[in-house]
Amino acid sequence: MCGIVGYVGTRDALPILVEGLKRLEYRGYDSAGVALVRDGKVRVTKSAGRISVLEQLLDYDAPPSPTGIGHTRWATHGAPTDANAHPHVDACGRIALVHNGIIENYHALRVYLKNQGVEFRSDTDTEVLTQLVGRFYKGSLEVAVKQALREVRGTYGIAVVCADEPNVIVAARKGSPLLVGIGQDEFIVASDAAAILSHTTQVIYLEDDEVVRVSPDGIRTTTIEDIPVTKEIQEIEWTLDQIELGGHEHFMIKEIFEQPDALRTCLRGRIDGENGTVHLGGIADVARELTRAKRLILTACGTAWHAALVGEYLFEELARIPTETEYASEFRYRNPIIDDGTVVIAISQSGETADTYAALEEAKHRGALALGVVNVVGSSIARSTDAGVYLHVGPEIGVASTKAFSGQVAVLAMLACYLGRRRHMSQFNASQFLDALGAIPDQIAHVLEQNDACRAVAEANIEKDNWLYLGRGYQYPVALEGALKLKEISYIHAEGLPAAEMKHGPIALITDQMPAVFIATQGIQYEKIIGNIEEVRSRGGRVIAVATEGDQRIEELAESTIFIPDTLEPLQPLLSVVPLQLIAYHAAVLRGCNVDKPRNLAKSVTVE
Ligand code: G6P
Repeated sequence: MCGIVGYVGTRDALPILVEGLKRLEYRGYDSAGVALVRDGKVRVTKSAGRISVLEQLLDYDAPPSPTGIGHTRWATHGAPTDANAHPHVDACGRIALVHNGIIENYHALRVYLKNQGVEFRSDTDTEVLTQLVGRFYKGSLEVAVKQALREVRGTYGIAVVCADEPNVIVAARKGSPLLVGIGQDEFIVASDAAAILSHTTQVIYLEDDEVVRVSPDGIRTTTIEDIPVTKEIQEIEWTLDQIELGGHEHFMIKEIFEQPDALRTCLRGRIDGENGTVHLGGIADVARELTRAKRLILTACGTAWHAALVGEYLFEELARIPTETEYASEFRYRNPIIDDGTVVIAISQSGETADTYAALEEAKHRGALALGVVNVVGSSIARSTDAGVYLHVGPEIGVASTKAFSGQVAVLAMLACYLGRRRHMSQFNASQFLDALGAIPDQIAHVLEQNDACRAVAEANIEKDNWLYLGRGYQYPVALEGALKLKEISYIHAEGLPAAEMKHGPIALITDQMPAVFIATQGIQYEKIIGNIEEVRSRGGRVIAVATEGDQRIEELAESTIFIPDTLEPLQPLLSVVPLQLIAYHAAVLRGCNVDKPRNLAKSVTVE
């Protein structure tokens, strides 16, 4: 979603801002803009559309500006037009502001400001905040920003510049991430580490209600109530090549192929097959409470919700703890019951998804122990949990989540085994499970060798506009994930179902125009899924199967079969999801879709 980048230093801000904005493109956006401070003026250039459109409007030959802010907008209040794009400027044209988040009381503030004679140029909530800062400005941008923020309700990450303070950026956050990169004689403010990584890896993360003022004189952090805060400088562990394409056509395919290495890193030092033990440093402090949990609630959105559903099966089977998986957007508003012994685990790649964050806050408010399974170190969810486990799969740039799903399932598998071992699981069973988990990265590498076969499946069915994905047990969440992957990037309609549910309605849809993808690996429900395949075949349906290597029976039944290696049933999702990711990828490419920037989607959904 929206992205912020700001620069103060000794270099020309413009190319740094544009580079930063390009690095934020992956988050999803529909307009972009920059404001530069030069010669006592704030100069704004902005436009609807891609950054390439903005670039055509920018004057690269103008004298350098050492200070500037930039933004990619994903429309919420007001259509994606030039006027609604950020930065917004105040009535005097001296203050420019970029904003991520939503100002909830913007309407009342807008009416108030209109009554004061302010004329608005856009439909956005952000302009309201900008005008408010302008009204309060009496010579100190920092003071005016704080004063304005005390009047607003809602969420924000903002960066503000002023013509009268040419070497200053004031930035603040509440519920929307913001960090400050600290370079040599320069500072880069951003909503995402990707925007600053090519300049520095030293950062400070702002907390909610904190305001930072950066200038060549240094950096000062206070609360919006003006109480000084001492910030710790942290090191970003991601590297530049991780956020670059490195010869791949798209981030999605790069990240699908990164899965063996990503999972090796995720598992490294954490599993000990020989002794049947799992080491998860991030939960050591809450190990006792967690082990005694009477109930787990896993909460997440999108792909992370599918990983959570695999987690539910894992926790109940391995650790015998009653577990529920909840959409974060439902959980946060539906008065959930949190008893003593309820542990809530939020699962999120970005650690910034608004609904997941709010669900976690609600759970904490009701007294639950709150854990996070998160990829982005230092993200909002990671920082607000009592304890947690990082995925360590590296940055995920492709909007369609792939390696994060694998990382989430792998972490949940480790967590389930960790708890199982502390409750009732034998060392032998834990060893067997962890040995199998340790073998998964190599097995994924083997599945990836079927890339051509997956492309052939996509090619053979590319004209079909509706697909079904069917699985049972551990493969049911994989069916959901396979359908989501296909629809989000290729815009082909797809539905995922527990295979037995097909008979309760969806079977009416079966024709040879609707490919049915069965995840039909060996397991306790194998015979049942064969029955479901027969039901589809007997109605003239086209069956695509993901099956266990050597399974000739399925091969004979299906039109196309992708084989995956055998593993323990609870770990099969880590292998069976890979062909589905590849099929979706190839379908999207064949249909000419923009794989890494699918229409209307955002990588990190920071509004509810
Ligand atoms: C968006 C992304 C999905 C992601 C979901 C949850 O919808 O497009 O890929 O699964 O948000 O994101 P999170 O960062 O919380 O895992």
